[in-house]
Amino acid sequence: MILNLLISAALAVCGIATTTDAVEYDYVIIGSGPGGGSLASNLATSGYSVFLIEAGGDGSTDFVEEIPSLNSVAAESPPHSWSFFVEHYANKTQAHRDPKYAYLRGNGSYYVGLDPPVDAQPLGILYPRGATLGGSSQVNAMNFAWAPDNEWDYIANLTGDGTWGHENMRKFLIELENCTYVPQGTPGHGYDGYLESSMMDPLITTGITSEKVGRFVSSIIRETEGIESADVQQLAELLVRDINRVDPDRYASNLTFLLPLAISPTSGSRSSIGKHINSVVEAGYPLTISLHSLATRVLLEQCDGRPKAIGVEYMIGEGLYSADPRYNASQQPEGVRTVRAKKEVIVAGGTFNTPQILKLSGIGPREELERLDIPVIVDLPAVGNFMQDNYETPIHVQSEVPWQETANVSCTRTFNASDPCFVQWETNGTGPYSLSGGTFFLTWRSSVSWDDDADLFFLSAAGWGDSGFYPGFSRRQPVPEMWGTSIVRMQTANPSGSIHLRSRDPRQAPEINFNFFAENSETDLQALAEGVSLLMRAYDDTGLPYTVVSPNPAVEMHQALMDEAFSHHASSSCRMGPAGDRSSCVDSKFRVIGVDNLRVVDASVFPRVPGAMPNGPTFTISRKAYEVILEDA
Ligand SMILES: Cc1cc2nc3c(=O)[nH]c(=O)nc-3n(C[C@H](O)[C@H](O)[C@H](O)COP(=O)(O)OP(=O)(O)OC[C@H]3O[C@@H](n4cnc5c(N)ncnc54)[C@H](O)[C@@H]3O)c2cc1C
Ligand SMILES: *[C@@H]1O[C@H](CO)[C@@H](O)[C@H](O)[C@H]1NC(C)=O
Ligand SMILES: *[C@@H]1O[C@H](CO)[C@@H](O)[C@H](O)[C@H]1NC(C)=O
Ligand SMILES: *[C@@H]1O[C@H](CO)[C@@H](O)[C@H](O)[C@H]1NC(C)=O
Ligand SMILES: *[C@@H]1O[C@H](CO)[C@@H](O)[C@H](O)[C@H]1NC(C)=O
Ligand SMILES: *[C@@H]1O[C@H](CO)[C@@H](O)[C@H](O)[C@H]1NC(C)=O
Ligand SMILES: *[C@@H]1O[C@H](CO)[C@@H](O)[C@H](O)[C@H]1NC(C)=O
Ligand SMILES: *[C@@H]1O[C@H](CO)[C@@H](O)[C@H](O)[C@H]1NC(C)=O
Ligand SMILES: *[C@@H]1O[C@H](CO)[C@@H](O)[C@H](O)[C@H]1NC(C)=O
Ligand SMILES: *[C@@H]1O[C@H](CO)[C@@H](O)[C@H](O)[C@H]1NC(C)=O
Repeated sequence: MILNLLISAALAVCGIATTTDAVEYDYVIIGSGPGGGSLASNLATSGYSVFLIEAGGDGSTDFVEEIPSLNSVAAESPPHSWSFFVEHYANKTQAHRDPKYAYLRGNGSYYVGLDPPVDAQPLGILYPRGATLGGSSQVNAMNFAWAPDNEWDYIANLTGDGTWGHENMRKFLIELENCTYVPQGTPGHGYDGYLESSMMDPLITTGITSEKVGRFVSSIIRETEGIESADVQQLAELLVRDINRVDPDRYASNLTFLLPLAISPTSGSRSSIGKHINSVVEAGYPLTISLHSLATRVLLEQCDGRPKAIGVEYMIGEGLYSADPRYNASQQPEGVRTVRAKKEVIVAGGTFNTPQILKLSGIGPREELERLDIPVIVDLPAVGNFMQDNYETPIHVQSEVPWQETANVSCTRTFNASDPCFVQWETNGTGPYSLSGGTFFLTWRSSVSWDDDADLFFLSAAGWGDSGFYPGFSRRQPVPEMWGTSIVRMQTANPSGSIHLRSRDPRQAPEINFNFFAENSETDLQALAEGVSLLMRAYDDTGLPYTVVSPNPAVEMHQALMDEAFSHHASSSCRMGPAGDRSSCVDSKFRVIGVDNLRVVDASVFPRVPGAMPNGPTFTISRKAYEVILEDA
């Protein structure tokens, strides 16, 4: 019954809106992540009335979202996150070679691995997304890297819109950041924004004070920069170099460093856009947040031949979406409502949901919409196509003895008054729970980089047992003998990912296939293999005995990389391009091609992956969208 209601009257006749009784706001925004959430609060502080529709609830003061060391737990637990299952390959044989591939057993439990029981149904690779006020930035790993300058300049070149050049884009980073790890006044950083950035103290968090850990980090720096570090003190000084500094050569030299984190150093908590959104409401600005509200489609009206967005329809209820682990198909929504936008509708549901919402509204590839009997309003093939991601490659090396002495931590993980670590975190914002990050990060240029920049970004940590996403990943414990690294490939050039509707039901998660290595596999695999060799040279340099666990040494290198690569930085499923280009989804002002008063502002608009870490760049483009929208208002 609800379905019929949804699909009928997809397009109102000009002047006779279907929703005359609906409440009206200047802007209606779907999704409260780094894209939509910061835009909503910015527009409200400028005095515009904003209605923000978020499928999840507000977990911004739950310790699961606040405590940095619990970031994986937040990413795998309702009500904070959705668990999508995606495919990496269309080729099932290849897909099922991944030891992280998940199946659903007959009794309702998961099986993960290479030997599924006969009754097990293939599900795919777990792909978490935040579904809470603040979106994925409330559950992510808080790594805060700004995109390489070349990635901004690429957008400027592609669109012909010079305001995307890196020098102008830096302005938006300055506006949104509250940088706490360089002296105030250091150029290129901001100090008054809503996003606190900090850096851990390498002497406390990295383990370099342990002899074997220090030895490996020294080897890496020697291999990549030719620097002989004399002692732990010098190592620590090298690690605090700032990857986000103003410098045209930021990514152009090999660099070992600690990555800034979106963590408040005063509270030892995640720097939270969710909390910021609430503070804007509390300050009395005209921002209305509608939680537990699943947007089902954008309401459109056709006047002078061009469709125009006039509002949004949404369902009320918790756990309504099939990617929510609490989903129950027979649970009906508490109601369906509409809201009208006087000025604009902005879709910011993230890389998976934005294309789904657009398609349900009749904006997308004609053939797919017609197959599902969705009236085609704009035939736009780029919706749900050209999706990209970084590849992450897990390298795990086991030594005979622990890399470092296990600290005597007294955390009970009960997160109450009987847990000394929790008490310390709550009282002083310090201690094991306040920490995140790893031993070191490294930017490094392989032989196939397409410019002068590094194309690989390493995250490396002593004690890291295994990598990637599978049901139960958030329960993994440190393994003291293991050293884990994820090599993140920047400059991926595989725009082959796709998102297709399974049905017209807005509660059904779409079919998602990344089609890994479908294009440019030679360069991507070559780069990753060179990264693996670099690590092995550095392990050899330490003189310590070790065995390689991943990539699987029993398998040819490129095959092993394909079997184990994972990702969680999806982008580009509604890509930006030159004005009027129908192979793009939005123009350089975030306007959906062919529709008036409709924009997309989230990670789905990046024409290609923005370096290694999309969170900071998504906040940055949201700030740009704010400026663009004010200019048009
Ligand atoms: C586990 C994990 C770890 C990560 N680690 C890092 C990291 O360390 N560094 C980094 O740079 N990036 C990281 N990322 C990626 C980064 O968080 C995302 O790229 C970024 O949050 C994207 O922002 P967004 O606004 O596009 O979408 P999202 O943050 O995903 O926000 C989308 C919001 O829209 C809501 N929504 C969706 N559909 C609807 C609907 N129909 N109706 C109403 N609301 C809807 C969702 O509930 C969600 O709140 C990580 C992501 C995950 C999941
Ligand atoms: C599918 O993948 C397997 C394993 O990588 C490979 O051997 C096979 O050739 C692939 N099939 C096709 C049709 O590409
Ligand atoms: C389902 O079956 C597996 C394999 O027999 C078993 O390990 C698991 O505990 C079962 N789960 C439930 C929920 O019954
Ligand atoms: C942008 O275009 C200029 C001029 O054609 C070119 O020199 C530059 O390399 C391009 N930059 C990028 C990142 O594509
Ligand atoms: C910036 O962060 C510091 C350190 O946490 C804090 O004291 C200060 O109030 C913040 N500034 C703003 C404008 O929020
Ligand atoms: C980066 O490291 C590699 C491998 O050690 C080395 O060959 C290369 O010269 C280094 N590049 C720079 C710019 O230092
Ligand atoms: C699903 O919802 C229906 C209707 O509310 C209820 O009867 C049923 O018990 C629920 N199922 C589960 C597994 O919770
Ligand atoms: C850990 O605590 C035990 C018992 O209190 C003590 O014997 C040991 O030396 C401590 N280890 C470290 C590394 O501090
Ligand atoms: C803390 O939680 C644990 C486990 O839930 C419980 O056993 C214990 O009594 C609690 N302690 C306090 C002080 O609340
Ligand atoms: C908090 O910090 C103060 C000052 O360093 C210290 O005296 C106190 O013991 C700490 N409290 C907790 C619970 O760690």
